[in-house]
Amino acid sequence: MSDTPVTVALKRAAAEDLSFVMATERLPEHESLIGRWSAERHMAAMASDDFAYLIAFASGAPVGFAILRELTDPHGNIGLQRIAMVAPGRGFGRAFLDQLLDWVFAETSCHRLCLEVFTANARARHVYASLGFVEEGILREVVRRGDDTRVDQALMSILRPEWQARRSAG
Ligand SMILES: CC(C)(COP(=O)(O)OP(=O)(O)OC[C@H]1O[C@@H](n2cnc3c(N)ncnc32)[C@H](O)[C@@H]1OP(=O)(O)O)[C@@H](O)C(=O)NCCC(=O)NCCS
Repeated sequence: MSDTPVTVALKRAAAEDLSFVMATERLPEHESLIGRWSAERHMAAMASDDFAYLIAFASGAPVGFAILRELTDPHGNIGLQRIAMVAPGRGFGRAFLDQLLDWVFAETSCHRLCLEVFTANARARHVYASLGFVEEGILREVVRRGDDTRVDQALMSILRPEWQARRSAG
């Protein structure tokens, strides 16, 4: 990767972005890493105050999406339901997550942003940890695969004071 900082622009998704979201979550290489929802499930989530869909753009083209859940949680716990890039490994994902953290803590009253990631997904765990997410524990055998095997997920979170400290440190 070059030393030029990777930048992405972030925008709230609209209904016309749903085809991009669904095509990206259905990329074959993402199959074992993230979930996939039907158009009906996405549309219901998009229409709900509990969810926010964000799209990352680079050079005017969409490069990834993220779905946040529980935006109305009274305790200020927001969940990162899903994030996926069209072409992982180009630095867009880290830049997107960095901006997503700013968006969450600036635009909402979130205190704790959490996520679950498959323990085998070393790339995502690396990116989350390098942006300040702390591993809280392992959800043992929490997901059953289509072949009936069960796999673990790591629970990770970042708290508002931790995000603020990182921003103050520059
Ligand atoms: C997770 C994801 C959003 C990260 O975005 P990305 O664009 O690939 O990330 P970047 O290119 O910015 O950074 C990748 C980092 O992981 C590192 N990495 C790559 N493969 C790795 C591996 N197997 N183990 C550990 N680190 C790895 C890279 O070296 C890079 O590290 P650096 O930023 O310290 O240089 C993206 O990979 C993705 O869409 N993955 C598929 C869906 C997914 O896994 N979503 C998360 C579900 S919880």
